[in-house]
Amino acid sequence: ATGAITIDPGYKNTGSCKSAITFLDGEEGILRYRGYAIEDLADKANFLEVSYLLVFGELPTSAQLEKFENDIRKYTLVNEEMKTILEGFPRTAHPMGVLSALTSALTAFNPKSVNVENEKEMYEAVCKTMGKFLVIATWTFRRRMGYPLNYYDNTKGYVDNFMRLMFELPTGPYKMDSKVVAALDKLFILHADHEQNCSTSTVRIVGSSHAGLFASISAGVSALWGPLHGGANQAVLEMLQEIHDNGGDVAKFVLKAKDKDDPFRLMGFGHRVYKNFDPRATIIKKAADDVLTALGVDDPLLDIAKQLEKVALEDEYFKARNLYPNVDFYSGIIYRAMGIPVEMFTVLFAIGRLPGWIAQWKEMRTSKEPIGRPRQVYTGSPSRAFKNIQDR
Ligand code: SDX
Repeated sequence: ATGAITIDPGYKNTGSCKSAITFLDGEEGILRYRGYAIEDLADKANFLEVSYLLVFGELPTSAQLEKFENDIRKYTLVNEEMKTILEGFPRTAHPMGVLSALTSALTAFNPKSVNVENEKEMYEAVCKTMGKFLVIATWTFRRRMGYPLNYYDNTKGYVDNFMRLMFELPTGPYKMDSKVVAALDKLFILHADHEQNCSTSTVRIVGSSHAGLFASISAGVSALWGPLHGGANQAVLEMLQEIHDNGGDVAKFVLKAKDKDDPFRLMGFGHRVYKNFDPRATIIKKAADDVLTALGVDDPLLDIAKQLEKVALEDEYFKARNLYPNVDFYSGIIYRAMGIPVEMFTVLFAIGRLPGWIAQWKEMRTSKEPIGRPRQVYTGSPSRAFKNIQDR
């Protein structure tokens, strides 16, 4: 017999684990990775440095960081047979569905399960995942565009490679824009971890059955895909485009978002934990201005986003519910300015969130968490006698 079971839909007031990785304070709008403020990390560190911090717990020395970057390069070649799986998808397939499938398929080519107690094996699994995931993530775009697939260039950096893997064409060298790479590096840092969000909780619970790291990450990709979670960055751009196409009347859309009978929500607004500004949104909003200025892009959707934010922040309904712009509200504006198609926005979120998923999976496994298996309150039929089909 069990004690009284309390139901907590969406686990709004349930702690699933103890964790030493990320700290959030929703009231104060504080976000720290391993104790370091997100503002400092976004400003002074790079994405691989932050990835190392999240997974191994300390900021790397320059020697450790250089070794990490080189060790990732050992695994950036993806088995050619993975292309057969990729080519099985129609070009119109959503990149997140393709990425989840390809991530799970990596298990077929790397079947040996990780002995998490063995530090060397765990370190190699981290490097392998960081290396291969970036390549297959960009392959989802190349497939969609009908472009040939690119390979990681081991003479270049991780984020540089992302831009090359995505946009370099056989017709000529890709012209890297250092401002774009710097902005992307910062965006990946801002997305790197966020304690027990929906996709991270998914990665932890799948991993708690001792399913492999690729299988767990693949499940995380699927959870992130949802428009209420990482898929919101795509939904924000589609919403801004709709407002623009409807003459830019933001007040009308704010009204719609408040209408209980209308399923429309203001995408990119609200958060389960932040009941104040999402500190990442503040940084991304500034980065959006900087990147668009640097690229000489004048995007009417950015102006609409700012108007929408202003109207919503002054609106009683939103204020009463502490609804502020979240990480997804401005990020898509930057991706769009970089020429990244809207269907790829959530894939970029996944690339940023990968080290967080790995760190949380590793923590869950090394702390020997039990298999995740919540209870329920039964509300179905009481016991009843079977009825033969002729009597039904
Ligand atoms: C991410 O968890 C994480 O940390 C996630 C993330 C991460 O880094 O991993 O931060 C990334 O997923 C950011 C969130 C991206 N999603 C969106 O932008 C989608 C739009 N936002 C909402 O769907 C919503 O705000 C959530 C999903 C983010 C949070 O939902 P909650 O905490 O379950 O809140 P709720 O749905 O219970 O809403 C509370 C009230 C409700 O009104 P009432 O029933 O009390 O009258 O606020 C309303 C909601 O209707 N509301 C909104 C709204 N969000 C909440 N109304 C209009 N527009 C919105 N965006």
